[in-house]
Amino acid sequence: MSSTGSSDLVIVANRLPVDRVELNDGTPGWRRSPGGLVTAIEPVMRANEGTWIGWPGGTEQDLKPFEDDGMDLVPMTMTDREIENHYEGFSNGTLWPLYHDLVAKPEFHREWWDAYVAVNRRFAEKAAEHASEDATVWVHDYQMQLVPQMLRELRPDLRIGFYLHIPFPPAELFQQLPWRRQILEGLLGADLVGFQLPGAAANFVRLVRQRVGHKTHRDLIYLPDGRTVRAGAFPISIDAAGFEELSRSEPVGKRAAEIREALGSPRKVFLGIDRLDYTKGIYARLRAFSELIADGHFDVEDAVFVQVAVPSREQVEQYRILRDEIDRLVGRINGDLGRIGRPAISYLHSSYPREEMAALYRMADIMVVTPYRDGMNLVAKEYVACRFEDDGALVLSEFAGAADELRQAWLINPYDINGMKAALLEAYQADDRELGRRMRAMRKTISQHDVAAWADSFMAELAAVRPTHGKAVRPARRS
Ligand code: G6P
Repeated sequence: MSSTGSSDLVIVANRLPVDRVELNDGTPGWRRSPGGLVTAIEPVMRANEGTWIGWPGGTEQDLKPFEDDGMDLVPMTMTDREIENHYEGFSNGTLWPLYHDLVAKPEFHREWWDAYVAVNRRFAEKAAEHASEDATVWVHDYQMQLVPQMLRELRPDLRIGFYLHIPFPPAELFQQLPWRRQILEGLLGADLVGFQLPGAAANFVRLVRQRVGHKTHRDLIYLPDGRTVRAGAFPISIDAAGFEELSRSEPVGKRAAEIREALGSPRKVFLGIDRLDYTKGIYARLRAFSELIADGHFDVEDAVFVQVAVPSREQVEQYRILRDEIDRLVGRINGDLGRIGRPAISYLHSSYPREEMAALYRMADIMVVTPYRDGMNLVAKEYVACRFEDDGALVLSEFAGAADELRQAWLINPYDINGMKAALLEAYQADDRELGRRMRAMRKTISQHDVAAWADSFMAELAAVRPTHGKAVRPARRS
């Protein structure tokens, strides 16, 4: 955003990259927002000096636009009712479970939908206000699926991209949604609709043909008004070089050694890092680990598990239930299997800065990522990026998008506890040669396809779909 309030690149996402929080001394401050979306977009935006429209969390009403390290941030306000109905309700009580294979049961409420429409409209209006003539607007994720169409009506001059960070469900599930047609039409306001995986893009095109009745050919959709919309797969990634650099740094190395020592210097450390979400399969993974101890494959002198669970959506009932379940399970496992000064599971319900995450990745021998369904899972990629010595094992769910690329991980079915136990044990026992062979291949994949490459390919495709309009967006790749 320039001082005139108009920008050539506008990001619209439910969340801003920073969250309004109360600091320890009681004064208000800012903290990095949770989740993969922010992790991915932030480096791209810093390179582009764009404007980011989003919600800073909470209900504070009079926050003004401000600058943060090369980005102009425009805070959107939400009332208690909107948080309840748009964010906790339709976004995270309806769409989130529906798009994640019904891992939890979605609820359908008309007042949630009304709030979703109203909030999407407000975000679209704000984007229309901040975008310069012929600008590019990039709309993100499931909370904002109506914005492309609303924005197109307000500003037909814009080049509009949409990217879904989470899975797009198979038609059989999507069809349950009472507002399925409105969602599809909302997305069709974009010139390019991006998904993590090719299967998701194909699901979307098929649904558009069947439910909205538009002509389609392969990944193209032909609208009656003459516009063409493309649906494609753009698997998201991370700032791989940045993570590696951080992991190699001396303070992170020192911190990694400190953490290992604090754990009692066990031979091997298993690690899980997730938002505390029922899609992540945390419960089953901790059970699998504890059964390996109970079965006598190793004991707590040999191996411990560090599980970081980042607090998330704490007002949503299913998340509260999950938290209690995990609390109980960890208590039981440590009560049954731990020794004095040596719990089997070190459980941390907290979020940590990037440096601490890098230290955890660097000190852990086996990274355990076991979601029932996940759009991509950037934690798996971050772990690989941090293993600059080509060691360490990744145990990865085949239902995470990342499994499409990280084929050399120990791939598991998270519903199959015995299969998961066998993979954890294999990873635990693997020799250096085996670990090196797998990790080298995965590191090659990650370094060739980082987040800058992801953003560049999306932007290039967006420009190709709408070639006659729009100003060029600077490539995200830093020179
Ligand atoms: C996932 C979603 C994001 C979301 C993030 C954190 O990564 O794809 O859209 O922002 O989780 O969840 P929250 O509800 O705290 O924004």
